[in-house]
Amino acid sequence: MKILGVHIGHDSSAALVIDGEIVADVAEERFTRTKHYAGLPIHSIAYCLESQGLSMTDIDFVAVPTSGSVEDLNFLFDLTVQQQEAKSKQRRLAELLSRIRRISLAVPPIYMRSFPVSKSMRIVHVEHHLAHAASAYYTSGTREKQLVVTMDGVGDGYSTCVWRAEEGKIIPLKKMNVSASLGGFYSNVTEALGWWHGDGEGKTMGLAPYGDYNKVKGVLDKYYPKFNGGDIVEPHDFGQPYFWNENGAFQYHYDEAYDIRELINKHGREHIAAEAQRVLEEQTAEIIYPWLEKENTRNLSCSGGIFLNVKLNQRIWESGKVSKQHIFPNAGDSGLAVGAALQVYYDMNPTAPIRSLSNLFLGPEYSAKEIEAILKLRSLSYRFIENIPAFAAKLLAENKIVAWFQGRMESGPRALGNRSILMSANKAENKDIINARVKFREAFRPFCPSLLWEKKNDYMEKARDENFMITSFTCKEGKRNKIPAVVHADATLRPQTIKKEDNEKYWNLINEFGKLTGEYVLLNSSFNVMGEPIVNHPRQAIRCFYDCGLDYLVMGNFVLSKESATL
Ligand SMILES: [Fe+2]
Repeated sequence: MKILGVHIGHDSSAALVIDGEIVADVAEERFTRTKHYAGLPIHSIAYCLESQGLSMTDIDFVAVPTSGSVEDLNFLFDLTVQQQEAKSKQRRLAELLSRIRRISLAVPPIYMRSFPVSKSMRIVHVEHHLAHAASAYYTSGTREKQLVVTMDGVGDGYSTCVWRAEEGKIIPLKKMNVSASLGGFYSNVTEALGWWHGDGEGKTMGLAPYGDYNKVKGVLDKYYPKFNGGDIVEPHDFGQPYFWNENGAFQYHYDEAYDIRELINKHGREHIAAEAQRVLEEQTAEIIYPWLEKENTRNLSCSGGIFLNVKLNQRIWESGKVSKQHIFPNAGDSGLAVGAALQVYYDMNPTAPIRSLSNLFLGPEYSAKEIEAILKLRSLSYRFIENIPAFAAKLLAENKIVAWFQGRMESGPRALGNRSILMSANKAENKDIINARVKFREAFRPFCPSLLWEKKNDYMEKARDENFMITSFTCKEGKRNKIPAVVHADATLRPQTIKKEDNEKYWNLINEFGKLTGEYVLLNSSFNVMGEPIVNHPRQAIRCFYDCGLDYLVMGNFVLSKESATL
């Protein structure tokens, strides 16, 4: 059974699930080069199909993660006249509105690619939060009973949903609308701090440990919903939502951001960020912990953009109320394509086993032949190195900055060792060096470590497997000054633990680096400069290499250097 998931909206994406296994998943931003691209995911669909040697006529179902009607589907899948007529009410209404307002309807030009489908193919709509829930439960690795919580800004009218998942099925327990949106609140604070709503929330989280919420406790009280006992007790009216289309990506806005900006001017940026983080953690606790008790389970799975907040995830883990905590690592809306496809699969196969997620290497890859052809075409000097992990480890031990491009690109927002910028974490100043020369981003933002799975107890308090940098952990005291470039102001790290079987080349690299330096950890940052999506194609890697202060570019076994004498 072949199911194509197609998400059109903030972080448009496509994914392919074959017989319950996720075989491809990619966000359109990686092709269009506009972060959070919200247009039609044409390149992503093409990639999903081509990577498996399929065409649309091979697809049994298209899963669309929204319960609403989507006009774009008519174009994308070249739907028959009958199918289009089923949607004709909305189309007629849109045409009428456009005539009244004297504006043109957006219709793609004929040369844009569409994907004609077979007669037997069906389009299935999956509600936004159910798709988030499915992405969490159906990647949790167990059919056992668990509480599933999905939280985001808003999707299909809901912001916060609680589900019981067991025996292959997901059952809603509580669904709360936009007036319960802690995501909306946190994003308003982010916007007031000067960053994109729906993008900069990680910066707010990164700034928070530099502030003290005790100095401003309560000043944001007017701007968020309140919860108690698993239910909402004080809904919040966010007012009119607005959005702005920036090169095909949507930025959202609520007028409350103006009020919050006044508070920031009065009390200081870091204190307001700290207060927003406190509110998020405490209010989410009021939702999740009572439901764990009611459902009599210690097994929790989560998805939705809120759960990209690694500090919140750490707080939940350290509460002692959960024994198993699974967060779908592509937790934002780019993960909806996978979620919707999995939901359609398990709807029809409720007794199928539920797999765990060992890696996210689900995007495009480029062969050695392709990479070499690209380098030759550009007349670039390069070298082929047989033992590339040992070679690159030596460079890193010499404190060089190395861009590392290998195999299939990661899906989701984190670079996990296939499209990464790497540096030694052993010197505190490396954080500033990489910021100044490569990333061009705010000095307060932490860098994350990749570390060998076997060494996790050496570096992390209450360690557990963490493949995806989705939870932070307190760094062991004795290690804080050994790997200072990846320890945040509050002594936490946001790690990726690597097992050899999940990424042998990357594991070998860190192992070789460990043999040279004594620390089995590397600073791992996504392969991009600030404001751009992670690189996908070798061409983009080359552009990025020459556009910033990287020392070396390693693509497959090919090495480029700006210090040509050393090659
Ligand atoms: Fe969402």
